Amino acid sequence: MKVCLVTGITGTLGSELTETLKSNDYFVIGLSRKIWVNADACITCDFTNLSTNDLKESINNVISNLKEINQIDFVHCAGYYEKERKFDSEFNESLCEKTFSINVFSFYKIVNILTEICEKYKVKSSVVAVSSNLTIKKNTLTAPYISSKIALEGMVQSFAQTYGSLDMRFNCVCPGMFASNMNEYNVPEQFINNTPLKRLGKVDDIIDSIMFLLSDKSNCITANKLVVDGGGSNGY
Ligand SMILES: NC(=O)c1ccc[n+]([C@@H]2O[C@H](COP(=O)([O-])OP(=O)(O)OC[C@H]3O[C@@H](n4cnc5c(N)ncnc54)[C@H](OP(=O)(O)O)[C@@H]3O)[C@@H](O)[C@H]2O)c1
Repeated sequence: MKVCLVTGITGTLGSELTETLKSNDYFVIGLSRKIWVNADACITCDFTNLSTNDLKESINNVISNLKEINQIDFVHCAGYYEKERKFDSEFNESLCEKTFSINVFSFYKIVNILTEICEKYKVKSSVVAVSSNLTIKKNTLTAPYISSKIALEGMVQSFAQTYGSLDMRFNCVCPGMFASNMNEYNVPEQFINNTPLKRLGKVDDIIDSIMFLLSDKSNCITANKLVVDGGGSNGY
C-alpha cells in the first residue's frame, strides 16, 4: 500500500492533489485545520501551534491500522502568503512568525516524525515541498514569504543529505503564480506575457510534477527543484 501525508488539503492545490493521489491508489492522510472528508483519514492540527508529540501519536494511530505499507510519502502543500506593510516593524515580526510556522517549521516537524516511521516500517519515501518561483525572481514586500520558502528549499536539501541512506528522497516543486484561494483567483495578464511559453502553470501542471517526483520514474532524483512557471523566472 502507498500512503501519502498531505498538508494544505483544503487549499486549491492540496484538494486537487488529494483526488489525484486517491485515483493513483494512495491512502491519503490529510493534516489540516478542518476535517476534510475527501482524504482517507484526516488529522486536525494548526501549524501556528503544532505539538510534535500529539501529531506523532495521531499519525502513528492511523498508520498502525494499515496493512502492507511499502512507501510513505509526504507533500507539503500548506503555505501562507501575506504581503508586508511598509514601516510597521511590530506587524512584520508576527507576520514572520506566522509565515515561518506554516511554511517551514511544520515541514521540519512532520519530516522528523516521518523519518522515525519510515525507519520503523522499513519503507521508502519521497517528500515534496511546494515552494515558489519567487525564490528565483523576487517581488516587493514579501520578505517573510520569500525567506521562508528559501529556508524550506534549504531544509529539503539538508534532509536529502541526511536521510538518503534510509531510501528517502526530498525535492521541491516551485510553481509560478497560479489561480487559487491565495490570490483570489486573480492572475494578472503581465505575468503570463512575461513567460517564454506565454502561459503559467495550471494546478494540473503542478500536480503532474509532484506525481513525477513521488513516482519511481524519479527514483534517482533527490535534493532538486522543479520550477513550473512556463519559464517565467528564466529571464526578461
Ligand atoms: N497560488 C499561487 O500563486 C502560488 C504560487 C507559488 C507557490 N504557491 C504555493 O503553493 C502551495 C499551495 O497554495 P494554494 O494556492 O493552493 O493556496 P491555498 O488555496 O491558500 O491553500 C493554502 C493551504 O494552507 C493551509 N494553511 C494555511 N494556514 C494554515 C495553518 N495555520 N495550519 C494548517 N494549515 C494551514 C490552508 O488551510 P485552511 O483551509 O485551514 O486555511 C490551505 O489548505 C502553497 O505552499 C503556496 O505557497 C502558490
